[in-house]
Amino acid sequence: MCGIVGYVGKRNAAEILIDGLKRLEYRGYDSAGLALKTDKGLLILKEVGKVADLERMLQDRAPVSNQGIGHTRWATHGGVTLANAHPHKDGSGRFAIVHNGIIENFMDLKEELERDGVVFISETDTEAIVHLIARFYSETGDILATLVALQKKLRGSFALAMIQQDFPDRIYCVRKGSPLVIGSGNGESFCASDVPAFLPYTRNIQYLDEGDIAEISLQGIKIWDENGEPSEKPVVTVDWDVTMTEKSGFSHYMLKEIHEQGMVLRSTLKGRTADGRISIDQELGWDAETVSRWDKIHIVACGTSYYASLVAERVLEKWTDFDIKVDVASEYRYRHIRCDSSTLAIFVSQSGETADTIAAQRKARSEGAHCMAITNVRGSTLAREVHSVMLLKAGPEIGVAATKTFTGQMAALFLVALQLGRLRGTLSPEEEERLINEFLQIPYKVELLLEREQEIRGLAMNYADKSNFLFIGRGISFPIALEGALKLKEISYIHAEAYAAGEMKHGPIALLEPEVPVVAVIPRDGLYEKTLSNIQEAKARNAPLIAICTEGDTHIAKYVQAVVEIPWTDEEFTPFLTVVPLQFLAFHIALLKGKEIDQPRNLAKSVTVE
Ligand code: M6R
Repeated sequence: MCGIVGYVGKRNAAEILIDGLKRLEYRGYDSAGLALKTDKGLLILKEVGKVADLERMLQDRAPVSNQGIGHTRWATHGGVTLANAHPHKDGSGRFAIVHNGIIENFMDLKEELERDGVVFISETDTEAIVHLIARFYSETGDILATLVALQKKLRGSFALAMIQQDFPDRIYCVRKGSPLVIGSGNGESFCASDVPAFLPYTRNIQYLDEGDIAEISLQGIKIWDENGEPSEKPVVTVDWDVTMTEKSGFSHYMLKEIHEQGMVLRSTLKGRTADGRISIDQELGWDAETVSRWDKIHIVACGTSYYASLVAERVLEKWTDFDIKVDVASEYRYRHIRCDSSTLAIFVSQSGETADTIAAQRKARSEGAHCMAITNVRGSTLAREVHSVMLLKAGPEIGVAATKTFTGQMAALFLVALQLGRLRGTLSPEEEERLINEFLQIPYKVELLLEREQEIRGLAMNYADKSNFLFIGRGISFPIALEGALKLKEISYIHAEAYAAGEMKHGPIALLEPEVPVVAVIPRDGLYEKTLSNIQEAKARNAPLIAICTEGDTHIAKYVQAVVEIPWTDEEFTPFLTVVPLQFLAFHIALLKGKEIDQPRNLAKSVTVE
């Protein structure tokens, strides 16, 4: 959590840093701050609240400076106060740092520093880092030696950017366990937690490895490894452009991202199928011999990415012959699930920076599994640590509630399932072709649904005053019920629970009454009749019912108050369609309730702490 950004160049640093922080605000929005280098020393400006509050404060005050660092905070150590807002300075005021991550041995370090007479003015772990930097620098007089020594002293995860009053036109960065990317422009350099922070200025990126130290300056970029040895990093030109990080006429990022789902599916499928066959052999580097070594698949993820994995589990069960386990990363990493060289372990993470997912991957890898990442962020920690990667083609997702990346993750997992089915011989060429033909139709069908937003808005108006919702579904629709409930609770703060429809009578049915709407995900599939019985049970308890069903289903209208129809598709592909009305429902209910949809309370997009 937290976003950091740094700039050295010829332009107004305050403007560039504020712009960068706004693009990183999805990482945290408790407080924001800047440290700018001026003729009179370092100027620190901070504000509790959002970046816009800091920007307002700056309007009449910011001096012109061409060099600085900035931070947007998601509080971990210490409350949301001005004193705890970053940047933090050392006692002399010559060093200032911004930090993303957690220092686990912070209490020991603080005690040690206090014994030496250091006075802390915040409750943050970050402040210990800046005091250590000042101490090591006074001992060595060498900033590289200082940062090498610092890494040896700190335990935990950190991405740091540091500015020093007397260093001409340069910023130092360190990356260990938390994301940090470097950007180089024409006579200007950047560092940030994520690429969108500086996309308006450059698309030339260098990804730092664990322990790397970087100097960004007017002259360019220098990188060293954790021992202070020079390190070459290739410059990669990213294919994201700045319009992808803007709202493009939509009121909210989330709404824009819902509407981008047809395009995301089209780009995810593009070039990955040919003539009715799956075509990702080269991308994954697997052949029949490789996949014959595996008999188990583990899929591990958190939140929405976990629900995409649950959808994939049902498809893999059908199309392949593996023994499949799906778990949330925070559980998987501490369980004793058998994992070895006969395991394909797939880690699904939009950001590629989720701490639990990364830790789970490291565990599976150490046990001999072949590890694969499905992620939206090239160069992310997860993408760099695994054996195989499949990138989503979703573009940056800025709304904290995941929408288009859920769709992209399901699509990527389906492609992997098709590939495995083919290589294992469990899918016949005819079946493969039939599935791919239908898969290629899904982007159009999603776009048909997107046109029905106003219909779902009308529905939202009827239910926005309810305090509790139940979502139900069976089979492949159960994870969609889970995702629908998660979307509603995270952006509208309405209590919503999801159950496998058949589980209702084992407890949750006790909750049903006229004030508790039940949203049933019931496409025409093999379990239709079963879910219909569960709907009847809910109706008998006078719960209002909304059904997400397949077009032409005239039968269901007898039992429910409202229906939203999806276009017809094969059972396996229904999740791409049934999820769209649930995303719109959550969005419009949250809008009617006046919530901060793109930045819901207490959440951050990228959960980089355990
Ligand atoms: O970046 P990741 O996919 O690893 O993130 C996982 C979850 O934190 C994320 O899906 C979260 O549940 C979202 N807020 C859901 O909208």
